[in-house]
Amino acid sequence: MSSITSHIENVSVSDLVNRYGTPLYVYSKNNIEKAFKQYKQAFGDKKHLICYAVKANSNLSVIALLAKLGAGFDIVSRGELLRVLKAGGDAQKVIFSGVGKTREDLRFALETGIHCFNVESEAEIYMLNEEAEKLGKKAPVSFRVNPDVDAKTHPYISTGLRENKFGIPYDEAVRIYKAANALSHIEIKGIDCHIGSQLTDLAPYCDAVDRMLKLIDELSANGIQLSHFDMGGGVGIDYEGEELINLQDLVNMIYEKLGDRPLSIAMEPGRSIVGDSGYLLTEVILTKENEGKHFAVVDAAMNDLIRPALYESWMRIEQTKESSATVESYDIVGPICETGDFLGKERELALEAGDILAIKQAGAYGFVMSSNYNTRGRAAEVLVDNDQVYLIRERERLEDLFANEKVVSFDEK
Ligand code: LLP
Repeated sequence: MSSITSHIENVSVSDLVNRYGTPLYVYSKNNIEKAFKQYKQAFGDKKHLICYAVKANSNLSVIALLAKLGAGFDIVSRGELLRVLKAGGDAQKVIFSGVGKTREDLRFALETGIHCFNVESEAEIYMLNEEAEKLGKKAPVSFRVNPDVDAKTHPYISTGLRENKFGIPYDEAVRIYKAANALSHIEIKGIDCHIGSQLTDLAPYCDAVDRMLKLIDELSANGIQLSHFDMGGGVGIDYEGEELINLQDLVNMIYEKLGDRPLSIAMEPGRSIVGDSGYLLTEVILTKENEGKHFAVVDAAMNDLIRPALYESWMRIEQTKESSATVESYDIVGPICETGDFLGKERELALEAGDILAIKQAGAYGFVMSSNYNTRGRAAEVLVDNDQVYLIRERERLEDLFANEKVVSFDEK
């Protein structure tokens, strides 16, 4: 049987549930701080920029906390930029990634004055040049290059196929950089890559750095001098006992390979900053047995946490108190009418109705990917700081779910 999560920082799970109900997302402030400081420490006094990938957890208080710690931000939409500004983040430390930025997105970011646009296609650079010209500005630019790290050599990078839609092709990068350099309202600043997520081995990063540095040298030989190299995100966390990348090893490897090239390093970590800090608390509605198979039906579902259903991700699920109930091998399932609505399968747990379960490492790609499927309100979010608890997002009220809808009056004709 797994261990017990009775407290989050110094607050008991039962207190949290009594005050805020379930399903409930809970984040440990100290854990987020610790994760961010590990990055800071790994870089030490070398010139760098850590841009937290807002998509992993975009709650305003999480952004505000990271802004206070000095983080920059990696955003992928106008909405995320608005969040960063609202939370007091520094626009000068914002980089804008994404394969489909609209003209409106580009204009808003140009007007705001961000650090860099991570451009992902040739078409985008021309759009950006036009929009910058209209505003009488020069757009700071980096190209996201797909370093084409061999997924066969490193089978755990499962994003190979999906990556195709991202970035510009490695072999065309020099030509595209030269074309961009000739545009009147573009200012070439850097280069970036992002090779995948939940990486647990240094090897693909090493390959990517080698490939990117080769390209950086080629650009330099063509008269294009860059000032930063952005390695993207992707550092994995411990969901299931994975061996993790040591951040200091990663940073040392980058600087060793970089040698005396005068480039500052940027990174865009998401999961490794917030993933470990988060818990999804859920109450067991009932247990049932279907022909020898045990189910615990809980009040959180795939609309609250889609990772198990979407990626078949394994996430730790722990009891929050000792129990005298019989231990069974449970499938932990939600109330949604889909067979894919599960949070965990075959978990040895001692359960009865009313028990609270804690789903761990739920701080990244948890709440942000939640939906209203089955007209379920999204969960509340709280931040715990030692023995202080802050409600950082109210539970959605059911009436609000259809507040923007209109009922056509079909009787009038
Ligand atoms: N930079 C770019 C350009 C990205 O596309 C991503 C994540 C990141 C940074 C942050 O990567 P991280 O450090 O978090 O691995 N929903 C999936 C993960 C999708 C990641 C998308 N891109 C999941 O739940 O596993």
